[in-house]
Amino acid sequence: MRTLKVDLGSRSYPIYIGENLLSQTNLLQPHISGKQVVIISNEIVAPLYMKNLLTTLEDLQAHKIILPDGESYKTLATIESIFDQLLEMKCARDVTVIALGGGVVGDITGFAAACYQRGVDFIQIPTTLLSQVDSSVGGKTGVNHPLGKNMIGAFYQPQCVLADISTLHTLPKRELSAGLAEVIKYGLIAKKPFFSWLENNIDRLLELDNDAIEYSVEQSCLCKAEVVASDEHEKNGQRALLNLGHTFGHAIETGMGYGNWLHGEAVGCGMVVAAQFSAKLGWLTNLDVNRISSLISAAKLPTQLPQELTADKMVELMAIDKKVKDGKLHLVLLKDIGEAVLTSKFNQDLLYSTLNELHNNT
Ligand code: NAD
Ligand code: GLY
Repeated sequence: MRTLKVDLGSRSYPIYIGENLLSQTNLLQPHISGKQVVIISNEIVAPLYMKNLLTTLEDLQAHKIILPDGESYKTLATIESIFDQLLEMKCARDVTVIALGGGVVGDITGFAAACYQRGVDFIQIPTTLLSQVDSSVGGKTGVNHPLGKNMIGAFYQPQCVLADISTLHTLPKRELSAGLAEVIKYGLIAKKPFFSWLENNIDRLLELDNDAIEYSVEQSCLCKAEVVASDEHEKNGQRALLNLGHTFGHAIETGMGYGNWLHGEAVGCGMVVAAQFSAKLGWLTNLDVNRISSLISAAKLPTQLPQELTADKMVELMAIDKKVKDGKLHLVLLKDIGEAVLTSKFNQDLLYSTLNELHNNT
């Protein structure tokens, strides 16, 4: 097992990464202060892992809340139903709420914990690769609003994160690849040696080799923990670097209709676009772009813009991204593999022609 720390002063917390951690009572118990715990999961994950977790917590008064599966339930209505159930269970302020599931369950549970009785303790037990390397770490919690994704939420840090990599063995392969997009992202924004390691080990990751997975989750969480410690509330531009590929990715997700492309698939393709544009600006070499594109393709992620999304359409979709500030689009681009920058200083015509070329190549 590997242990990392998210360093946030009095709100610091550990991330445990390893095999079969769900059964280890000694890991969870120190992070639970009261006698009552509520495990929030969904209809897919609960049948797989709830029993095991309940056995681990058998000395406590443990309840469960099972949500329907899917992003479409990441709503205020679900939060309200959680509050109803917590109140019916007579949960007091010393209750600990545990998220058992992917990023959807984690984001909902964290937000419910942040609000219930003005804030109760919560623990993240992420069960997708994406949630183990990204969403469970850093305290972004929340739900969607009909007018925008993740628009209602709070920064609220967990007591600990328990990333049991054994749970990835039941994850659909497409979801695994989507998580790999975020893993590759860390290599690209800050960790060149890790990027090279990924080039040599991508097949081991796709085969779920435990040592390789554990190492890649550790390296990813290390990067995320460092960024979060330096810019918890996304104020100084550091945390925004985690959005490499996301502005293009969100445009693809929206343009193709939510659910048709997984978030990680769109981010993978978005990172190829960011790399191509960085090369146009003279920052990356064509060799770098080929390396990036090859790794994303080896992770079984798309590298070509969908035929439907012309340059005009992409520019239109990107204009409504959260990264538009003072009327200017800000993009995370690459100065080198392992060095990302957030910038609005680029020629819009050059962006347009890059998108046009990528579109015409598909
Ligand atoms: P998800 O939670 O929808 O999980 C993907 C699918 O896998 C679901 O059907 C889920 O039920 C299923 N699943 C989960 N674990 C499983 C397992 N071990 N075995 C079998 N099936 C399993 O999707 P996700 O990719 O984990 O998370 C996406 C969400 O995370 C989005 O809502 C996104 O906005 C959010 N997110 C949040 C942050 C953050 O910082 N808070 C960062 C990135 C993404
Ligand atoms: N997933 C981006 C962030 O946590 O800031």
